[in-house]
Amino acid sequence: MSAEKKKQIAAEAALDYIQINDVVGVGTGSTANYFIDALASMRGKIDGAVASSEASAQRLQQHGIQVLDLNSVGSLPIYVDGADEATQHKHLIKGGGGALTREKIVAAVSEKFVCVADDSKLVDVLGAFPLPIEVIPMARSYVARQLVKRGGAPELREEFITDNGNLILDIHNLEILNPIEMEQAINNIAGVVTVGIFALRPADVLILGKDDGPEIS
Ligand code: A5P
Repeated sequence: MSAEKKKQIAAEAALDYIQINDVVGVGTGSTANYFIDALASMRGKIDGAVASSEASAQRLQQHGIQVLDLNSVGSLPIYVDGADEATQHKHLIKGGGGALTREKIVAAVSEKFVCVADDSKLVDVLGAFPLPIEVIPMARSYVARQLVKRGGAPELREEFITDNGNLILDIHNLEILNPIEMEQAINNIAGVVTVGIFALRPADVLILGKDDGPEIS
């Protein structure tokens, strides 16, 4: 079975977590897109969605789903999003699509974070996928040097500007043995907006699309 089909299986299984009148937090990326397409079937039953990117907002609107400003909703019962890597502890690397800052904000606000992914995303240790970091443009070189000191090999994402007007550094060669410690440490570097480790606020539910259906943990 293709990775795309597995993503779709995981995304569609997340519909079970959506309740009538929910405002739904919606992530970014190809798996999140499958979720948006599936959510369209519940259009009349939910109160709207909060999107973690301009791209997802546009896709939601194309399906006739109302997109709300996060500041206008008190709390979010649920957030559904993909990941670049996930561990069995539900620690994640996110940001392959560059939307990590808004994703982290929506995850922080949400009562339940359901992560959906194909089963190739499950890893023992985070870090084989280059770790995305959103940085303020003037801090790019400084942040890169700090990551080199930690053993990383930073690469500027070419011709990419985030929805917030910032840059992305992708950090290769990191073995993230303690995701919580590393998330805190990188977030403390001046000029870092967000690091793509989601461990302080991990997922609550991980749905992996597999050959024989969704696996939920
Ligand atoms: C977007 O910025 C990311 O965090 C995505 O959730 C992540 O890159 C997974 O994307 P896919 O669902 O396309 O694999």
